Amino acid sequence: MKTTEYYRLAQSENSHWWYRSVHELIMSQCQQILKGPAFPKRPGVIRLLDAGCGTGGLTEKLTALGTVVGMDISSLALSLNKADNVFLVQGSVNATPMKSHVFDMIASISVLYHKQVKEQRALQEMLRMLKKDGIAVIVLPAFDWIFGMHDRNVYTRKRYSLGETVNLMKISGFKVLQARYLFSFLFPIFFLKRISERILARNLSDLVLLPPPINTLFEWICRLEWKLGKIIRFPFGSSLMLVVQK
Ligand SMILES: C[S@@+](CC[C@H](N)C(=O)[O-])C[C@H]1O[C@@H](n2cnc3c(N)ncnc32)[C@H](O)[C@@H]1O
Repeated sequence: MKTTEYYRLAQSENSHWWYRSVHELIMSQCQQILKGPAFPKRPGVIRLLDAGCGTGGLTEKLTALGTVVGMDISSLALSLNKADNVFLVQGSVNATPMKSHVFDMIASISVLYHKQVKEQRALQEMLRMLKKDGIAVIVLPAFDWIFGMHDRNVYTRKRYSLGETVNLMKISGFKVLQARYLFSFLFPIFFLKRISERILARNLSDLVLLPPPINTLFEWICRLEWKLGKIIRFPFGSSLMLVVQK
């Protein structure tokens, strides 16, 4: 990612509606999974990896679930990482410096689509690091046809469709427990932003902080979507989430 984007991420991840709502969703998913029937009950503390942890907004929250390792390829990201009580490691998801069969859960939010990531290799690494029946929660940007300036700034290799990612997970050897689009309700606004970027040829980061009332409104809209998402699957969105099992 461009250096400016790391600073922007560090500055906005605890207040920006996108991060606040996606972190809330990931945390509730992880809590549900850990209590649910798919997850084998094991003695001892739960071990989690935040693969591509960036500046640590989610890493910090994951400590509520167990012992957390945050890993990122960027020394700048790690130096800006504010998470307390986590082990921070510099390394690439393509060839991690971790042992095999050590994690119960891996979260990888907005990472596998990066130019520096070889997705097949990264998924094989996740399989290797996960314990038997371990879970990975993965978030990716959706739809290559809405590739924008922000994607260029964060070195996006590509954006994905849900069907494509489900196939990718299956081919890699994962069982897919859940696959859904995210940010469906706000998708029209996202789409209009992309169109205006193209018309105005302006570099508008997706991480710009909006005025607080709009930021809060967007967060509430996402919360409503997460609630309805338990019973309805929406056919589009600006991101997608997969919950997969080894
Ligand atoms: C968009 S940020 C997301 C950060 C964090 N997961 C979050 O949701 O806030 C993408 C992160 O992936 C990291 N990254 C990119 N390629 C990587 C690789 N090959 N191995 C590990 N981290 C990588 C970047 O340095 C950056 O911190």
